[in-house]
Amino acid sequence: MTHDKHQAFFDQLAAEWDLMFTAVDLEFLEHIVGKLGVTEGMDILDIGCGTGILFDMLRRIVGENGSVTGVDFSMEMVQKAHRNFPFPNVNVVDADAIMLPFTDNCFDMAVAFAAFPHFSNQQRALDETHRVLKPKAKFYIIHLESSKELSETHQLIGGVVEHDAIPPADKLRKMFEDSRFADVSIEDHPNLYLASATVQK
Ligand SMILES: C[S@@+](CC[C@H](N)C(=O)[O-])C[C@H]1O[C@@H](n2cnc3c(N)ncnc32)[C@H](O)[C@@H]1O
Repeated sequence: MTHDKHQAFFDQLAAEWDLMFTAVDLEFLEHIVGKLGVTEGMDILDIGCGTGILFDMLRRIVGENGSVTGVDFSMEMVQKAHRNFPFPNVNVVDADAIMLPFTDNCFDMAVAFAAFPHFSNQQRALDETHRVLKPKAKFYIIHLESSKELSETHQLIGGVVEHDAIPPADKLRKMFEDSRFADVSIEDHPNLYLASATVQK
């Protein structure tokens, strides 16, 4: 299960990706995003942004004094995200979550929606996210499934994502702490997985 195989897997899904979401999903997602504490003027990082499903929800809150930066290592996803959201306060970058092309301390919040299980080295992704976030900034890992449902979905899909999973709560807690995040919170329910942690520097 190599990195390149994951890129190829997501590249071939990009064209139809937006069809994956129902109106109910989008409404629920907007409700979740509304509770993250995003405010006007924030600079938000969306890691594994895909075609930018969160961009509109975020960019409307941060406004023209803030920004939304999406990162994805699938070029096809990145190109689609660019086409979908040609707004001055939205940037999209083709990069890997384990090597973010940003300076230290430059974002006010980071989110990874439906992406964290796919990162080839989750600990390094946490280290990198910590590095680019400002002190006291929050990182959210979000899924519209529980961790169990998500693993079952990946097993059904098979192929390169068959074993992609969210680590068990105690392991994820330790991973966050090893990357110098504090105040770890993990909610794991049917239809919603929401983990959050705060940067300590
Ligand atoms: C299931 S999709 C979710 C996309 C988007 N967040 C959404 O919900 O519509 C996972 C995304 O993570 C991206 N991804 C996986 N591993 C990555 C990595 N190491 N670095 C950057 N992006 C990655 C994939 O290319 C894909 O677009």
